Amino acid sequence: MGHVSEGVDDWFEGKVAIVTGASRGIGRAVVGKLAVRGASVVLNGRDQVVLDLAVKEIEDAGGSAIGVQGDFADPEFPEKLIGACQSEFGRIDFVVNNAATSAHSGRVLDCGREAFSKTILSNTWPAVAIIQAAVAGGLPEGSSIVNISSAGAQRVHETAGVYTAGKSALESLTFTLSRELGPRGVTVNAIEPGIIKTDLAGAIWKGEREAAESRLIPMQRLGDPSDIANAVLYLLGPDARWVNGSVLRIDGGRFHVGGESAHKIGVFQ
Ligand SMILES: NC(=O)c1ccc[n+]([C@@H]2O[C@H](COP(=O)([O-])OP(=O)(O)OC[C@H]3O[C@@H](n4cnc5c(N)ncnc54)[C@H](OP(=O)(O)O)[C@@H]3O)[C@@H](O)[C@H]2O)c1
Repeated sequence: MGHVSEGVDDWFEGKVAIVTGASRGIGRAVVGKLAVRGASVVLNGRDQVVLDLAVKEIEDAGGSAIGVQGDFADPEFPEKLIGACQSEFGRIDFVVNNAATSAHSGRVLDCGREAFSKTILSNTWPAVAIIQAAVAGGLPEGSSIVNISSAGAQRVHETAGVYTAGKSALESLTFTLSRELGPRGVTVNAIEPGIIKTDLAGAIWKGEREAAESRLIPMQRLGDPSDIANAVLYLLGPDARWVNGSVLRIDGGRFHVGGESAHKIGVFQ
């Protein structure tokens, strides 16, 4: 009888992962953990200098990595990313669609057409286009894709309603793609991070707000990028081969406390 954890330790060994937005924050934590487990990693971001530093850190720790500079708003970007991965490593096993921005902060009522379409598109199309290019590039059976959404996708948010609508759409696409790619042995899932201590969420938690926001989280602390990276590795790993079309919320239990920020509900003084 086979051992349940057979092959678990070397699952990532010799495999190749593409992670967008991997120069900082959650993406950087993901590539760090994947490299330690033996995967070669393709890091993306807009700043080659920052990418080179991250690649060097991974290589110094014994890992294998390349940095591919590119902006997800560039229509050529998906082909460039997949092409660079294929020419360096000759295969793609994992795709983590992580990079995201929001072109609008404020009420949905105040959002103009351009900021609206830019925000919705940037949270959906790059992920779809990269998946299309990766499939065309020959994702093997046993591959996995993880799309980074947000716990806000299921919430009303006072200043990020357009961004969270983009994340809701990303989750819907995740469900459909899981159906389209499942028969090929490829899983597609999403993760909803809560408040993670990165630059992107800085306005919510930096400075004295951290204590107030932490008190609203049942686990009494904000998330660390590694909290999300651990969940990504689970979804890419051998123990999640029947997890497909799922959304994993990783937020310390914050979702069950309500949607408003500490500042808004008066906890923050
Ligand atoms: N932090 C949170 O609390 C939180 C909560 C919910 C969901 N999320 C989601 O988690 C993901 C990662 O966020 P994070 O907090 O780790 O953000 P972050 O620390 O700000 O890092 C963002 C990464 O994306 C890259 N990036 C930004 N714009 C890009 C573009 N146009 N093209 C290519 N790369 C780009 C950045 O590098 P460059 O700037 O050098 O390009 C950086 O590597 C996002 O999808 C975000 O929506 C985060």
